Amino acid sequence: MIEALTSTVSIRVFDAGDTDDVIALWLEAFPEYRDASRPQRNPHLSIANKLATQPELFFVAVKDGSIVGTVMAGYDGHRGWMYSLAVDASSRRLGIGTQLVHHAEAALTALDCPKVNLQVLSAKADVRGFYESLGYRADEVISLGKRLGAIA
Ligand SMILES: CC(C)(COP(=O)(O)OP(=O)(O)OC[C@H]1O[C@@H](n2cnc3c(N)ncnc32)[C@H](O)[C@@H]1OP(=O)(O)O)[C@@H](O)C(=O)NCCC(=O)NCCS
Repeated sequence: MIEALTSTVSIRVFDAGDTDDVIALWLEAFPEYRDASRPQRNPHLSIANKLATQPELFFVAVKDGSIVGTVMAGYDGHRGWMYSLAVDASSRRLGIGTQLVHHAEAALTALDCPKVNLQVLSAKADVRGFYESLGYRADEVISLGKRLGAIA
C-alpha cells in the first residue's frame, strides 16, 4: 500500500505505440495467449480489431511511465461489455484493477449504456471475487458462443 501512496497511476486511451508493452502484459496475464492450440487467441489481431471499433474505449493504466494495466470496453447500443482487464503481476492489489474498471464503467455510462456484462473463465475463482468486490453479480444465464468465419 506504501507504493500506492507514492506512485501515481493515470489511465488514458491506448495508443498504437503501446502495442508491444500491452502484448507483453497480456502474455503474462492471460496464459491462453501462449496456448499454441488456440491460434484464434491472437493479441495483435485483438488490438488491430479494437483500433477499428470504438478505439476510444480501450484504456491503459500508466505507473511511473510504464504500462501496468489494460481494459477494453464496448457498447453495442443495448449492452456494454468489458474485456481484457489485466494488471501487471508486480502491480496487483494496489487498486489499479479497480481504477480501470471504474474508468471503463464511467466511459460506458457517458454513452448512456444501462448495463455492463463481462465473462470470467469459471476456473478463475479469484477474479470472480475481484468483480464481486466491485458489485458485479452472476446473472442467471449461461453464456453461449459461436465462432464465425474461417477459423474453427
Ligand atoms: C483481476 C485483476 C485485474 C485485479 O487487478 P488488481 O489491480 O490486483 O485489483 P485491485 O487491487 O483493484 O483489487 C481490488 C479488490 O479485489 C479483490 N481481489 C483482487 N485480486 C484478488 C485475488 N487474486 N484474490 C482475491 N481477491 C482479489 C480484493 O478484495 C481487492 O482488494 P484488497 O487488495 O484491498 O484486498 C488482476 O488480478 C489480473 O490482472 N489478473 C490476471 C488477468 C485476469 O484474469 N483478468 C480478468 C479477466 S476476466
